[in-house]
Amino acid sequence: MKRIGVLTSGGDSPGMNAAIRAVVRKAIYHNLEVFGVFGGYSGLIAGNIKKLELGSVGDIIHRGGTMLYSARCEEFKTKEGQQKGIEQLKTKGIDGLVVIGGDGSYHGARALSEQGYPCIGIPGTIDNDIAGTQYTIGFDTAVNTVIDAVDKIRDTATSHERTFIIEVMGRNAGDIALWAGLAGGAETIIIPEEKYNMDEIAERLIKGHERGKRHSIIMVAEGVTTGMEFAKELEEATNFDTRVSVLGHMQRGGSPSAFDRVLASRFGSRAVELLLEGKGGRAVGIENNVVVDHDLNEILSTKHTVDLGIYKLSKELSI
Ligand code: F6P
Repeated sequence: MKRIGVLTSGGDSPGMNAAIRAVVRKAIYHNLEVFGVFGGYSGLIAGNIKKLELGSVGDIIHRGGTMLYSARCEEFKTKEGQQKGIEQLKTKGIDGLVVIGGDGSYHGARALSEQGYPCIGIPGTIDNDIAGTQYTIGFDTAVNTVIDAVDKIRDTATSHERTFIIEVMGRNAGDIALWAGLAGGAETIIIPEEKYNMDEIAERLIKGHERGKRHSIIMVAEGVTTGMEFAKELEEATNFDTRVSVLGHMQRGGSPSAFDRVLASRFGSRAVELLLEGKGGRAVGIENNVVVDHDLNEILSTKHTVDLGIYKLSKELSI
C-alpha cells in the first residue's frame, strides 16, 4: 500500500476534520501518500481528488464541518456509480480508502470492499446510531450543543412559568434526546426506542406544578414525532402554557469537544493501520475505551441499541 484516500460522506458532524487530520498525518508518518476526495461519493465519481500534505490539515482540528465537504449521493448506490468511483481511485494509483460517515456511507464502503477495493469506515454522525461502537464522532459535541440551548431555554421557561418542548435530531435513534435530556435535567424524554404515555406525562407535569415547579422541559427525539405535534397532544392533556423549540442543524455545527477530537484522532489512526495491515471491509469503533474494528457486514446487519439504563435513570431522577 503506497497511496490512500480519505472522504467524508452523508451528514457532517463535528470532529470529522480531526479524523481527516489523523488519517493524513498517520499515513504520512508511515510514508504513505494521501489523497482527499472532495464532496463525498459524488466527488469520487467526478474525480475530485487532490493530494494532501501535512500542512493541508493544519489548523482544522478545532473546526466543525468537514474540509473535504460532504454529500448524499444517489448514483453511488448503483453498481455503475461504484465502478466509476473505483476507476477514479485506480487512475490515481490509490490503493485503499477511508470513509468517514454514517450508515449510508458504510453501505458505499462495503460495496467497494465487496468489489475488491479495500475500504475502512470511521463512524462520523451526530446520531450515534451505528452498531459496533459506543460513540460516533460528533455525538458528544451535539449533546453539548443541545444542553447549552436547554440551559438558556430553562431561564426563560422559569421566568414565564412555561413548558418547553425541545425537538432534537437523531434520525431513528434517541441517543441525543436521551443524553441531552439527562444532562439538561429534562422532566420527560421521548425517544423512538420507548413508547410514551401522555396521561402519565401530564400527571407528572401537573404534580410538579403543584409542588411549585415554574418550568418543565420535555425533550423529543425527531424519530418519534415533531415538537409541534407533541405540543398539541400535551396541550389537550393539560392546560399548560407551552412553547416549542426545534434546534435543527445547529446541532451539526460548532467546534468539536475534546472527547470528539480525541475519538476522531484514535479512529483515524486505527483506520490507517488497518489498511496497512492489508485489511478492508471493516469499520473502527470504541468499546469500553478500547478502539476495536468489525466487519462492515456485521455492523450493517446489527441494529444500534440505545442505553436504556440511562432512560430508566432519567425517569427516576425526574420524579
Ligand atoms: O444524520 C444526521 C442528521 O442530522 C439527522 O439527525 C437528521 O435527521 C438528518 O441528518 C438531516 O439531514 P439533512 O441535513 O439532509 O436535512
